[in-house]
Amino acid sequence: MDETALLAAEIAELKKHRNAVVLAHSYQVGDVQDIADFVGDSLGLSREAAATDADVIVFAGVNFMAETAAILNPTKTVLIPDPKAGCSLSDTVSARDVLRWRSEHPNGLVVSYVNTTAEVKALSDICVTSANAVKVVESLDRDRDLLFLPDMFLGEYVKQQTGREMDIWLGECHVHAGIGEQELSDRISSFPDAEFLIHPECGCGSSCLYLKPDAKIFSTEGMVNYAQSSSKKEFVVATEVGIIHRLNKKTYGKRFIPVKESAVCQYMKMNTLEKIRDSLRSNTHVVRVDDDIAAKARRAIDAMLAVV
Ligand code: 13P
Ligand code: SF4
Repeated sequence: MDETALLAAEIAELKKHRNAVVLAHSYQVGDVQDIADFVGDSLGLSREAAATDADVIVFAGVNFMAETAAILNPTKTVLIPDPKAGCSLSDTVSARDVLRWRSEHPNGLVVSYVNTTAEVKALSDICVTSANAVKVVESLDRDRDLLFLPDMFLGEYVKQQTGREMDIWLGECHVHAGIGEQELSDRISSFPDAEFLIHPECGCGSSCLYLKPDAKIFSTEGMVNYAQSSSKKEFVVATEVGIIHRLNKKTYGKRFIPVKESAVCQYMKMNTLEKIRDSLRSNTHVVRVDDDIAAKARRAIDAMLAVV
């Protein structure tokens, strides 16, 4: 048995022993995706975390995702294999920033992308993911002021789609913000017949659509579903490169070209099979969210799950 197969076997044994599941985001390294019980986007992972009857959830993703799982499962043990797996986007907004906006807009609504800390979610009215942001915002009272945070590119996209006036927090993910007009136009000239799948967090997501008006804007799981049903054979994919492994696994006879090979999230890549094995073995690192914050954050997550 090679090293990977050995680790996979150890993880399978530990999972059985502890009644555990491994949930993994599509940006995880291929080996981690391959041993996971569920792989998906932020929405799918939140749903799965809310539904699981396992005693232990190992979250192969980043901190805000593991926190969401802990908020949805206060009686379960949620583990993150590497607690340094942060998110540059969630770091752009703090609870104090939200309180400041709220004091200036006493009747306002705060809509938070799930890429936020538990403290920010606790001060929000409703959460969104990239898969449901348009639908959630459409469901909200149009007469109230609205703050969309923290991703400005997703915010712009939602504003365009809904036609709703809103304040947009000027945050960005360093990986997606680096996918812009240049990367998109280079790929358009190299692959004129390919279909373009773009994540709404990308710098090219809303403002560069004039370059490729028929590009499809999707969450990571939306890309997988679309590629499975499309008759096209070649796709240019604008998001973190980990999704290519999943797209290849879930389709047959199709070619996926990353719009930018170096679009790699170093936080997502911190989880390894070894760290997952160790986290199950030694019960590390337990994700803890203060009870009061968790109860308030849960209201915002549940409000989202009730819409879609
Ligand atoms: P989705 O998988 O929900 O599209 O989110 C992308 C992302 O950047 C998560 O960190
Ligand atoms: Fe955060 Fe961007 Fe990494 Fe997603 S890809 S976890 S938004 S830094």
